[in-house]
Amino acid sequence: MTGTRKLHIKSYGCQMNAYDSHRMADILAPRGFAETAQPENADLVILNTCHIREKAAEKVYSELGRVRKLKEGAAREGRRMLIGVAGCVAQAEGEEIIRRAPVVDLVFGPQNYHRLPELLARAERESGVVDTEFPVEDKFDALFPPSAAATKARGVSAFVTVQEGCDKFCTFCVVPYTRGAEASRPVAKIVAEVRGLAEAGVREITLIGQNVNAYHGEGLDGRPSTLGRLLHALAGVPGVQRLRYTTSHPRDVDDSLVAAHRDLPILMPYLHLPVQSGSDRILAAMNRRHTRADYLRIIERMRGARPDLAFSSDFIVGFPGESEADFRETISLVEEVGYAGAFSFKYSPRPGTPAADMGDQIAEEAKAARLSELQALIERHQRRFNALCRGKTLTVLLEKEGRHPGQLVGRSPYLQPVQLIAPVDRIGEIVTAMITETGPNSLFGSLAPAGASCESESASAMGA
Ligand code: 5AD
Ligand code: SF4
Repeated sequence: MTGTRKLHIKSYGCQMNAYDSHRMADILAPRGFAETAQPENADLVILNTCHIREKAAEKVYSELGRVRKLKEGAAREGRRMLIGVAGCVAQAEGEEIIRRAPVVDLVFGPQNYHRLPELLARAERESGVVDTEFPVEDKFDALFPPSAAATKARGVSAFVTVQEGCDKFCTFCVVPYTRGAEASRPVAKIVAEVRGLAEAGVREITLIGQNVNAYHGEGLDGRPSTLGRLLHALAGVPGVQRLRYTTSHPRDVDDSLVAAHRDLPILMPYLHLPVQSGSDRILAAMNRRHTRADYLRIIERMRGARPDLAFSSDFIVGFPGESEADFRETISLVEEVGYAGAFSFKYSPRPGTPAADMGDQIAEEAKAARLSELQALIERHQRRFNALCRGKTLTVLLEKEGRHPGQLVGRSPYLQPVQLIAPVDRIGEIVTAMITETGPNSLFGSLAPAGASCESESASAMGA
């Protein structure tokens, strides 16, 4: 089929959405849709929305106001532009989106985008098509593999969804309501997808899932697998040189995952393991199902298995009932773990979640003060972690051209962006770089002679 129609997808939020947006483009490609970066030229505009941040739905409605102008502009030129809303806001709002924004032609949830061709055909005939059911069929079975050209255009590092949904029900979080129950893909299907990506030149695979280490897909022997065993299976795929996974829950760290960090050198020594709070009282109110001590024990076990492992986390400050003493516990946890980086947020109520109805909501000023103190501390830790890399060699997967001529940007094993001067044909290679300068967010270096060892990637260099 010829690529005559144009598709623009705007993706918000997490990597799961970025992955889903690629899959939507892959499904529509055989139907003649080619992607465009210019929404005004598109025949189909899809907003792939995220519900996790505050006032997410309101932001989508105001974006739809802007999209309406594009649609009107296209109509003036005699073109029909279809508008779709996908993702978690679509799942949560459903019909309401069509009611409030009649400019929208189709609404579909994260579990329904495999039906996109049929939904689109309906939207061309009738107005306001909505599909937010949790279907019985497996959407992954209906997905199209990307073409080698599409994979190449997306770069040498790729995400692969292995698990979706969440059964944890942390009291602040909307994910269990928008993404549904935990479900895992079979190992064989994931291995096949990764093989295809590696054949097209992808060198780094990040396995993603809302709760990725709750992974329990069918193994090659027909029995439920674990994330650790899946990582072992993927480590053998030719061409794959780096593996990562995100986002993990402390409760689901098991022996096989610890063993994977011990046994697989290509599993990168960087782990995003959200804790949310350092106070047991708040962890219980959040329904996190782990204590501070449990979390610290996991960190210790992981470091025992892979001494150069660096950690990052998510934190929420100002959860209902959080006292100054509770917040101090969070600060002391950060000091104790020594993160390489972390995300932190002010608690904000999500309608429909238990915490939204809890008493003792914290005043905005207290939340803001706690957040800035925590962020300053995290930034100090991050700078210190980066500074430890100065004068060391690190392996860098070269990903793309940098901002300045002749410069390439890649990632260190610890996910730090590294800028260095190198020929553009080396994109896709893992090189050894001597780190000469470090900033709060990036490292700067130069290509080290071939054969230079990466001794710096050791516990003594990285222990923060
Ligand atoms: N308020 C503030 N932060 C939240 N997060 C999730 N829900 C909320 C909320 N209601 C944060 C958590 C989670 C990250 C993705 O977003 O820290 O790990
Ligand atoms: Fe949300 Fe908690 Fe599930 Fe993470 S584990 S997606 S924070 S409910």
